[in-house]
Amino acid sequence: MSDVAVLGLGAMGSALAGALLDGGHTVTVWNRTGHRAAALAERGAEVATTAAGALRAAPVAVVCLTDDAAVRETLVAVPGRTLVNLTNSTPEQDRGLADWAARRQMTYLAGGIMAVPSMIGTPAAFVFYSGDAGALQRHRALLERFGGVEYTGADPGRAAVHDLALLTAMYGMFGGFLHAAALISAEGIPVAGVEPLIRGWLTAMTGALPAMASAIDSGDHTATGSTVRMQALAYPNLLDAGRERGLDNGLVQPMGELLTRAVSSGHGDADLSVLATMLHGGRVRRENEQQIDP
Ligand SMILES: NC(=O)c1ccc[n+]([C@@H]2O[C@H](COP(=O)([O-])OP(=O)(O)OC[C@H]3O[C@@H](n4cnc5c(N)ncnc54)[C@H](OP(=O)(O)O)[C@@H]3O)[C@@H](O)[C@H]2O)c1
Repeated sequence: MSDVAVLGLGAMGSALAGALLDGGHTVTVWNRTGHRAAALAERGAEVATTAAGALRAAPVAVVCLTDDAAVRETLVAVPGRTLVNLTNSTPEQDRGLADWAARRQMTYLAGGIMAVPSMIGTPAAFVFYSGDAGALQRHRALLERFGGVEYTGADPGRAAVHDLALLTAMYGMFGGFLHAAALISAEGIPVAGVEPLIRGWLTAMTGALPAMASAIDSGDHTATGSTVRMQALAYPNLLDAGRERGLDNGLVQPMGELLTRAVSSGHGDADLSVLATMLHGGRVRRENEQQIDP
């Protein structure tokens, strides 16, 4: 028996299997397309020819495939095994797979990787986990080979919620940067010259996040400096500048619409944090509460 199996040897699965081998673990690998296992076999991995064979070869299997459909197509019942699914998923998909596993006497841990393949095994990488806490404890030494371990709770959907929240924030940042870069390019200014200024500005603005988070949790959106009204008045300039240069304003338009709606709903004097309340429509589920309060 190997210590661990890895199912899926794409860019990320290969990095995960490599980190386990580097850590001195015995590893059985499987990939739908067999040739991707060759490099890992040279480094000492056992190669299984079927997913079932890989699952039988170790007490715990790390699964890292394209998406939930690929995972569902691949997994077979091998009672007693623990699945650690690091495939990007929705909370509902992870809850569904946890249920699938439980009905087959298998243990399920969901995971969301906060790293790119080159970061795996470095201190910069971490993975959100949720689901069976005992399984996490039993296999913690293996999982720490990938990077930091962040357990988010017994509900198997929790890791995906955290993963998707961080990705959402990341895409907001990248989306803003891409529009800014298009605006700068349209003026014939090299983006590389302005990029350090954008980075400095974004870094400074992250200082506002703790107070915004507290405001969203408490519901007290009293503005201390910048009001929604001030921002709603300035924002159209940003949209006009894009329009006048023939830019596609698709990445920035929705924020302008939300600001306008906030003012017309009577939130003009509030802090920007009030927009989160508008997005979830007041549907907040507090910790340990089953009901969603409107
Ligand atoms: N790469 C990143 O930066 C990164 C970062 C964080 C999280 N992730 C997540 O990690 C997961 C894997 O990403 P990746 O970068 O490794 O992707 P990838 O390089 O495209 O690899 C995809 C893997 O899924 C397999 N696969 C696809 N459809 C399948 C099916 N129907 N049945 C069986 N196997 C199937 C592929 O097998 P074949 O080789 O046979 O096609 C391959 O092993 C994704 O959920 C991704 O969101 C990736």
